[in-house]
Amino acid sequence: MKMKKLLTVLGIALGVSPLVYAEDGATLFKAKCAACHQTSRPNEISTLVAPPVMGVMRHVKMTYTAKEDAVKFISTYVLNPQKSKAVCMPQKIKRFGLMPSQKGNVTQKELESIASWMFDNFPQKGFMGKGHGKSCSVK
Ligand code: HEC
Repeated sequence: MKMKKLLTVLGIALGVSPLVYAEDGATLFKAKCAACHQTSRPNEISTLVAPPVMGVMRHVKMTYTAKEDAVKFISTYVLNPQKSKAVCMPQKIKRFGLMPSQKGNVTQKELESIASWMFDNFPQKGFMGKGHGKSCSVK
């Protein structure tokens, strides 16, 4: 009897969690990252304070094609941004400055949801960079 109940609970947990997980990532991103990284395509590039998320993810995916690796990279970078670790934007760092560490603002666990959501949703279909990516050196 106990086992059956446990299985039911597990089933519910497993069935529901992917949804919650995805939503969490979007909500967390809005709360903790969107102030700097906009999620819609910018009309006016000159007012940006950081690269929009589709550009970021385009570059992240060029270096880290597996989701697991990309999520790991993002979680690490956000807590400890380093020029040498940045994937593909020497000119972006020059323009925006290095991203300030978000340590204390976001936890490792939250970052995993955020990064997973970013990977699944960006760049959105049909997105083409504005040509800034070409001069990047992909490691
Ligand atoms: C205060 C503004 C600010 C906030 C808040 C911020 N970022 Fe950034 N982020 C930047 C800037 C500026 C850059 C570009 C320079 C760089 O790459 O370090 C950047 C770059 C990045 C990059 C690309 C790293 C690379 O390889 O160059 C990732 C990934 C990233 N941010 C993720 C996040 C996530 C996830 C959050 C929310 C938890 C976040 N950022 C919050 C300013 C911000």
